[in-house]
Amino acid sequence: MDVSLRPMTVADLDALLPFEQILFGAESWSRRSYLDELADTELRTYLVAESVDADGRTELLGDAGLMTIGGTAQILTVGVLPAARRRGVGRLLVRALVAEARRRKAEEVLLEVRIDNEPARFLYEAEGFEALGTRRGYYEQGRVDALTMRLGLDR
Ligand SMILES: CC(C)(COP(=O)(O)OP(=O)(O)OC[C@H]1O[C@@H](n2cnc3c(N)ncnc32)[C@H](O)[C@@H]1OP(=O)(O)O)[C@@H](O)C(=O)NCCC(=O)NCCS
Repeated sequence: MDVSLRPMTVADLDALLPFEQILFGAESWSRRSYLDELADTELRTYLVAESVDADGRTELLGDAGLMTIGGTAQILTVGVLPAARRRGVGRLLVRALVAEARRRKAEEVLLEVRIDNEPARFLYEAEGFEALGTRRGYYEQGRVDALTMRLGLDR
């Protein structure tokens, strides 16, 4: 599968929003949220991953977002469509966000992940993130804990 990454635009939202619910359920973002996020180009970077077939047709595979404030970058979202998983797309997106954090001269990248989300935790661990601690009741109105993870960036 030929996968490429590019910056997300407002034009991607029609394709993206139907998958938000599948990927994130109760935590999914609305069009309004995405519009606000995309408008803040000073602090935020959003990427989409897509496959390109032999005729040049593209298909959305996933997306990811990063916010950088001062020396700290925060991964805001990473999602890959179920049919495209376990083919390295998530890894590609995370690596691109980390590269963007370096470009913005961040010293560390932080993220929150559901404590019960093993695929995501394994992905971040494989990319060098370490567990910092838990945030009780961070998701689903107090029902599910988050694990905070950190990657230090060598300057
Ligand atoms: C987490 C998620 C982004 C991973 O995307 P992906 O494209 O399937 O991940 P990759 O194929 O790049 O996997 C990279 C590595 O992560 C780990 N990993 C990913 N999915 C895994 C799974 N289901 N079980 C165990 N390890 C997994 C493995 O180490 C994998 O390397 P390997 O395939 O060489 O063993 C995807 O499952 C997803 O979108 N989940 C729903 C949304 C979500 O939870 N996002 C994260 C929010 S913090």
